[in-house]
Amino acid sequence: MSNGVVPPEVEERAAVLRSQLNHHRHRYHDLDDPEISDADYDALMRELQRIECDFPELVTPDSPTNLVGGSPSALFAEVVHAVPMMSLDNAFSMQELRAWGTRLERYIEGGVRFCCELKIDGLAMSLRFERGRFVRAATRGNGVVGEDVTPNVATVRDIPHGIRLPVDQTPEVIEVRGEVYLPLGAFEELNKHQAAAGQRLFANPRNAGAGSLRQKDAAVTATRNLSFWSYQLGEVQGGPVFRRHSETLEWLRQAGLPVNPEIRVFRDLDEVYAFTQHWLEHRHDLDYEIDGVVVKVDDLDQRRQLGSTSHAPRWAIAFKYPPEERTTPLKRITVSIGRTGKATPFAVLEPVFVGGSTVGTATLHNEDQVRLKDVREGDTVIVRKAGDVIPEVVGPVLSLRPEGSEPWAFPEACPVCGQALARSEGASDTFCVNDDCPARRAGWVEHFASRGAMDIEGFGEQRVWLFFNERLLADPGDIYTLDLDRVEAMEGFGPVSVANLRRAIDASRSRTLDRLLVGLNIKHLGSAGARLLSRALGYLDRIMAASAEELAAIEGVGPTIAQSVHDWFRVPRNTEVVEKLRRAGINLEGPVTPSVPQLLAGRTVVVTGTLEGWSREEAEEAIKARGGKSPGSVSNKTTAVVVGREPGASKVAKAGELGVPVLDEPAFATLLETGDLPTPAS
Ligand code: IVH
Repeated sequence: MSNGVVPPEVEERAAVLRSQLNHHRHRYHDLDDPEISDADYDALMRELQRIECDFPELVTPDSPTNLVGGSPSALFAEVVHAVPMMSLDNAFSMQELRAWGTRLERYIEGGVRFCCELKIDGLAMSLRFERGRFVRAATRGNGVVGEDVTPNVATVRDIPHGIRLPVDQTPEVIEVRGEVYLPLGAFEELNKHQAAAGQRLFANPRNAGAGSLRQKDAAVTATRNLSFWSYQLGEVQGGPVFRRHSETLEWLRQAGLPVNPEIRVFRDLDEVYAFTQHWLEHRHDLDYEIDGVVVKVDDLDQRRQLGSTSHAPRWAIAFKYPPEERTTPLKRITVSIGRTGKATPFAVLEPVFVGGSTVGTATLHNEDQVRLKDVREGDTVIVRKAGDVIPEVVGPVLSLRPEGSEPWAFPEACPVCGQALARSEGASDTFCVNDDCPARRAGWVEHFASRGAMDIEGFGEQRVWLFFNERLLADPGDIYTLDLDRVEAMEGFGPVSVANLRRAIDASRSRTLDRLLVGLNIKHLGSAGARLLSRALGYLDRIMAASAEELAAIEGVGPTIAQSVHDWFRVPRNTEVVEKLRRAGINLEGPVTPSVPQLLAGRTVVVTGTLEGWSREEAEEAIKARGGKSPGSVSNKTTAVVVGREPGASKVAKAGELGVPVLDEPAFATLLETGDLPTPAS
């Protein structure tokens, strides 16, 4: 705490933080071109808040801790908000949520109900309706003055041009506040177009949404498929009087405005926290980005008692999720060679905590992506790690690019074996085509031993490379003649680890034929194709001997897979490996299961949520075994959606929208048994 003397270094730090925050606020709000991620911004803001809390004498009226948003630009007319558009205070943990709950008690008495809403990662917008007609849309701007973007927002299909209420219930003036956002599908589509036109890619849906709105020509905005969720009221004249926020939302829904379906009211903060954790886990089931949950006091009287600070209401708090995007320096770009020979460029980064773990490398996908994103060594880049997806470089922060930097060029030679890399006409990937490339061979061994193939525990990347460099193995066949005495003498090994390894290798001898086929690393052949082959032909020798036509005649096996499998077994160095495996006593047979009737051929069944009788994999497997497809998302090609416990809300909503039948577990069982969908109740 302050004793009246502010150490000079603290004062200096506060000044630095203020100027940095002002700079970044301008980049974010005015230019739609942030240099740092939201999380990095929040960290600077919290540091300044902490200093100002310890040394209140340092607080200035224009401190960024007191400000909202950016300044209106010259491109659009100014709109003064009769009711300011405030920002929200943040909580990052249960502890901080509780601290907010305790603060509430200073102002109000009695129980509190909390209305929880998803925190949509888009752009705050105020829609003004006069006598039911949509007349104006304004951005938040600096909270007091925003920009008039009416023609642009009028193109957003979700936003009604008139309120759907009887005339006598239609308020004279009502401002509906909410978030304009770009759904993920629309974002991907937009970036596809940008790429095809050789234009810069948008870093994320939020930036793309902001760019789409800030168009001089509303016809461009119209092509961008923006959407909207309402979550608050601004100025109201002659409107209904509500007692609760949740009633307001219900009224908005009735009036024809889009209100997010995932809104819940809770009586205590433990339930609120559980809600935040549920959506933390399921955020990627949604078709739009969220960055947290907004918790609001539901009772409007209590809200009035709580009031606001200079920049945020006391009656609400944003529970923010850990960041999925951060900015960090990119040290080098390197190329890795996979088991198929594919050369994937990736960035070596200054390690950064993102998406729940520390990330030191991130993929750049392929040559075209690097060129399109124009990512260079020495750049500061945005790194994204969302859910289980591998970390990727989204793009550079151009304003931080060091002078004299050069575009990165894809290497001509394989970094592992030195032979020329090849990229065929029209293909996006580059390959090392040297069959003896150590990266390819070690990658194959690793793949053979992996979970999805022969599942040999303790045979991961590091060990494979160790054995490979010691020349103890050169292909998967050598695993079974591995000199374990030599391994035992190696550093880091002992009798116990070698005994475990021996056991794991032995256990793999009896794996099913389809797993062995997967382990052979045949181009285009995945686990589904491998299962079809093993079920239909039952013996590796029959698969080896089959012509491409015979293979293609198997239900579900296409000509590409058939040709690839046939060709693979015609290469002597491949059959040599097969012979080693045969000598090692590996299982090379079936089971030949009676072929399942293809009741779901040509049909697409999506599974969401947890089922009692099937794991997700088993359910999908059962669909595929009957000739059906089971992708991860609902579209107009979907035949039915099977819904278990805690389903993905957007999948269920999409099914409703498209009129796709939704099945419970018993109906799913019937579908698998008979191929019939339940008859709709009339
Ligand atoms: S309420 C006075 N509800 O988050 C309270 N805001 O960090 C106004 N946001 O400026 C905001 N989803 O742009 C509210 N369900 C939601 C929201 C939400 C996203 C945004 C909004 C706001 C920012 C604050």
